[in-house]
Amino acid sequence: MKLLFVGDVVGSPGRDMVKEYLPKIKEKYRPQITIINGENAAGGRGITEKIYRQFLEAGAQAVTLGNHAWDNREIFEFIESAKNLVRPANFPEGTPGAGIKYIKLNQFEIAVINLQARTFMPALDCPFTKAEELVEEARKRTPIIFVDFHGEATSEKQAMGWFLDGKVSAVVGTHTHVQTADNRILPKGTAYLSDVGMTGPYDGILGMERDAVIHRFLTSLPVRFEVPKEGRTILSAVIIDVDEKTGKANKIDRILINDDHPFFH
Ligand SMILES: [Fe+2]
Ligand SMILES: [Fe+2]
Repeated sequence: MKLLFVGDVVGSPGRDMVKEYLPKIKEKYRPQITIINGENAAGGRGITEKIYRQFLEAGAQAVTLGNHAWDNREIFEFIESAKNLVRPANFPEGTPGAGIKYIKLNQFEIAVINLQARTFMPALDCPFTKAEELVEEARKRTPIIFVDFHGEATSEKQAMGWFLDGKVSAVVGTHTHVQTADNRILPKGTAYLSDVGMTGPYDGILGMERDAVIHRFLTSLPVRFEVPKEGRTILSAVIIDVDEKTGKANKIDRILINDDHPFFH
């Protein structure tokens, strides 16, 4: 089976890229499951119910989040009923939502896990301990397990990849908004990529209006970042081939669509 994962969708430019390219990517690669990271989908901060539904209508079966999960307060009204929405599993006990969701497809089931790293990020429960616990639980139901590890430090993401090698189908990083070129199959069969990259404005800084970001670096003054409404755009994704019987990955390829890397059918 093939799994498609689209990296951090930022604002309406990101959502427009999903609308335009998801059908084309699906036609080319024919994935059985599509997962989207939507932590920045609503104006760069969080997600709304309408956007979550739009992703499902556009052809996604699951949506993951990250440190921006709570930025749009609407999330608290729908997260408990959103069956295909996954927030980082190592948020403190009692946090709304869930960090693992099982998605039923025709002949098989896939466990989608979202975890958040801790290096240069808010203090949370240990993502490694939480991963171990959830993977043990998931493996009783299905060998097909996808992990979106939302983190800043490449070392922590690599550590998670090796920690889960042979236990999950894929560990794919999100959060840095820049795609890394280290896609590989680890020795025990786990597909790994440090960061899938972002989907949205191409000429901003991590998807935000670049002048505001530069101003902040120059002055250290607080600046409100906005998503640029116009300009060139990018889509970053990854396609993973998984043996549905063993849950092991055979292949992981990066997908990058922008003016410097146009999409070819
Ligand atoms: Fe993000
Ligand atoms: Fe993030």
